[in-house]
Amino acid sequence: MKKILLSGYMASGKSTIAQLLSKASGIPYRDLDDIIAENAQKSVSDIFSEDGEIKFRKLEHEALKAVLSDDKGLILALGGGTPCYANNHEFLKRDDVMSIYLKTSIPELLKRLRADGSGRPLFDKQPPEEQEEFVAKHLFDRSYFYHQSKHVILTDGKTTENIVNEIMSLF
Ligand code: S3P
Repeated sequence: MKKILLSGYMASGKSTIAQLLSKASGIPYRDLDDIIAENAQKSVSDIFSEDGEIKFRKLEHEALKAVLSDDKGLILALGGGTPCYANNHEFLKRDDVMSIYLKTSIPELLKRLRADGSGRPLFDKQPPEEQEEFVAKHLFDRSYFYHQSKHVILTDGKTTENIVNEIMSLF
C-alpha cells in the first residue's frame, strides 16, 4: 500500500490534515517530528538548541528513510523543512508514494504561526518585525522542493473537511 506524504511550510496544516485524513480513510498516520523526537528522546526544539540544525536534518533523513522502508500504508505529516534537505525531495517522487503539497499563502501562514506561539525553533528566533520577510524568503527558497510533490492542494479559504475530501478524491 502507498504511503501518503503531506508536505508544506510550517503551519500549513500537515499534522491536522494527517490526523483527519486518517480518521476518514482508516489509514494510520504519524508525524515525522514525533518520530524524530521519540528516537532522540527529546523534543525537536531541544534537538535544535542542544545538537544543532545539521544534526536534526540527519535524524530527519534517517527517520524518513526508515518509515518508507516497508510497504505498510501510512499517512505521514512531514516537517516543514523535510523535502528541502538531504535529497529528501526524491522520496516525494517514488512510485509507492502519494505526495501532496499543502500550499498556503504567506499572510495565512503568518497568522497561524503567530497564533501558535513557540515550539518552532526556526520561526521562534525571528524578531516580530522580521517575521513576514523571513517567511516570504524562506517559502520562496523552499517552493521548488515542495513542488516536487505529485499533487498540490491550495488550502486558503478551505475547511479541513474540504481539504480531506479533496485528498480522498485523489485516491
Ligand atoms: C521545520 C519545521 C518543523 C520541524 C522543525 C523544522 C522547518 O515542523 O520539523 O522545527 O524547517 O520548517 P512543522 O512544519 O510541523 O512545524
